[in-house]
Amino acid sequence: MITKSRNIVWHDATITRRHREELNGHQSKLIWFTGLSGSGKSTLAHAIEERLHRMGCRTFVLDGDNVRHGLCADLGFSDDARAENIRRVGETAKLFVDAGILVLTAFISPFEADRARVRALLGQGDFVEVYCHCSLSTCEKRDVKGLYKRARAGEIQDFTGISSPYEVPAAPDLKIDTESISVEDSVDLVLSLLHARGVFAGR
Ligand code: ADX
Repeated sequence: MITKSRNIVWHDATITRRHREELNGHQSKLIWFTGLSGSGKSTLAHAIEERLHRMGCRTFVLDGDNVRHGLCADLGFSDDARAENIRRVGETAKLFVDAGILVLTAFISPFEADRARVRALLGQGDFVEVYCHCSLSTCEKRDVKGLYKRARAGEIQDFTGISSPYEVPAAPDLKIDTESISVEDSVDLVLSLLHARGVFAGR
């Protein structure tokens, strides 16, 4: 992104992310859920947040449908609009990570390049990519919001999986088959990964 603002100087905070992490008793990270609409990203992100909250961790969920009501309300679903959506979410998530928070994001984020940009922005160690794998036919059967039906009927354009592509993550940190694994077991998988990455090492 080209910075158009002129004459701006970065101000270094005296209280840093490390201070905040120390106060919280855990590291901050971005846990990025990607997958088709209806693949279980939001369900899983919120279930993990509940578990982390009970553990006394500071958390926040950024959810595609919610963020598109405000911060990204001006964006549609063209490739460019999705790229901008993911860029803004990445920048927002970075602020949350700097604030010492375990941030969980639930966005389709269908394009590898957009996800790679967020990974680069955060740095390899702070970006934990979780691919919620679920077949299109199952997502379509679930059709919680009735959007697949409308997309098939031609009422919604550029719909992921129908008229817009989903690029499968080449090397996610974790792949969860949400068709065959329960929410509770999926939560355990993510928590184990966070433990292995040393997120709770200070406890
Ligand atoms: S993303 O592709 O830019 O990452 P995002 O996760 O923010 O998408 O929003 C996806 C949500 O918007 C879906 O869960 C669905 O409820 C809704 N939606 C509306 N139109 C579309 C569309 N054309 N493609 C995909 N999702 C859509």
